[in-house]
Amino acid sequence: MRIDILTGLPSLLHSPLNDSIVKRSQSKGIVKIVVHDLRDFSLQNQRSIDDYAYGGGAGMVMSTEPIARCFDQLMAERDYDDLIYMTPDGVTLNQSMANTLSIKTNIAILCGHYKGVDERIRDQYITKEISIGDYVLSGGELAAAVLTDAIVRLVPGVLNDETSALTDSFQDDLLAPPVYTRPADFRGWKVPEILLSGNEGAIEAWREEKAIERTKSRRPDLWDKFNKNE
Ligand code: 6GU
Repeated sequence: MRIDILTGLPSLLHSPLNDSIVKRSQSKGIVKIVVHDLRDFSLQNQRSIDDYAYGGGAGMVMSTEPIARCFDQLMAERDYDDLIYMTPDGVTLNQSMANTLSIKTNIAILCGHYKGVDERIRDQYITKEISIGDYVLSGGELAAAVLTDAIVRLVPGVLNDETSALTDSFQDDLLAPPVYTRPADFRGWKVPEILLSGNEGAIEAWREEKAIERTKSRRPDLWDKFNKNE
């Protein structure tokens, strides 16, 4: 899978994409992530990528030209399954969207900034608009890093233990149960006895019970969804 990210602030993406699982996905050769600095596609003297909004009002708007030129170049090189725009007015990201995107071959992600991008870019190029929640970030870069992480860890072969993504919270509309590691007694705080029992069936039942308990109390909305799907 290849992910191209278009941004005016490439340095904001370096650390999240070059550490941990996202880094491993790339060094294993399973995923290729390419960050494009939109300033490289500007035709302005100052390499500017934004301009004043028509009609006035506070805040700059990201210009058409650098984004269009970058998309045109990429689309001439390969076919894209989706051109995604990260924006607070997009559809809120969830696990099912991450699952869908993880089986694509090529996707591109445009990071918004300032007051957003010229609407004509959205009209002409963008196929999906995604938000990561109901709060405002300074730019789309951190949101693009979140989306990329959520997708990449689902691509087959990326995680060491193939089953571990399957037991994530949300993967089956339930939150994950509590987990413990050594020591069995820390300052008198004990690990639940059942986890030390070696009884796999009983442990599995306990985990399911805890997952249900946790989902009911913390996320009644998810619990409703879980019951509808059963
Ligand atoms: Cl995708 N962008 C920005 N700027 N803020 C956000 C967001 C995206 N998702 C939630 N807040």
